[in-house]
Amino acid sequence: MLRFPTPTSIVVPARSALKRIRSDHTLRPSSSSRQAPRLLIVYHSRTGLAKQMSEAMENGARLASEEMESDLNLTRLRAADASIDDVLQSDGYLFCAPENLASASGEMLEFFHRTYYHAFDDNETSLITARPYGLAIAAGSDGTNAARQIERICKGWGLRPVEDTFINRNGLPQDKTSILQPKLCQPDARKRCEQLGGLVAATLLL
Ligand SMILES: Cc1cc2nc3c(=O)[nH]c(=O)nc-3n(C[C@H](O)[C@H](O)[C@H](O)COP(=O)(O)O)c2cc1C
Repeated sequence: MLRFPTPTSIVVPARSALKRIRSDHTLRPSSSSRQAPRLLIVYHSRTGLAKQMSEAMENGARLASEEMESDLNLTRLRAADASIDDVLQSDGYLFCAPENLASASGEMLEFFHRTYYHAFDDNETSLITARPYGLAIAAGSDGTNAARQIERICKGWGLRPVEDTFINRNGLPQDKTSILQPKLCQPDARKRCEQLGGLVAATLLL
């Protein structure tokens, strides 16, 4: 059985702060970290591919923060654990999920169903409009329906895509054995996810 880690929520200290931490031998965050932009990563994964893609996104975002020497508040949550408060409190988003039966996976859709209308005020105005986002889909041979579905939801929220959606087709035979086996994210796909994570992070930090 696949195990999912507990959600991560960390402030990535900028490189200058890291130097300070090393020389001070203290792990206290820098005072500026309180104002750090917040990046939320929401993912769902059944056989491991989208989970690894979301980890690569997180890594890319962390690297961008370090390279830009700017603090970033980074939270990565499984879709079932993400709430409307997480959405409203974040400045940018990364979403990652598999396509299942020609649709975004049920758990990912459930996250959007739970949160979608709560992100609008009484005048039907999105509370998160213009915030940047990136989307990556894990798929067998297609992935386009899941991409379209989530892009439409993000458009409804008024979010701004920083790049075209990345669809990672795993290239395995689409039979029962391959579909159900644990997946490994290939280095080129990992790189694409890191770039996407880095781009959303950099957009927030500019
Ligand atoms: C129930 C089920 C339905 C699937 N349906 C599709 C599909 O419609 N299109 C597609 O491209 N892949 C489909 N797949 C394949 C998955 O998208 C693919 O294996 C992906 O890598 C899974 O990501 P994960 O490892 O993060 O769960 C399906 C897999 C499962 C388990």
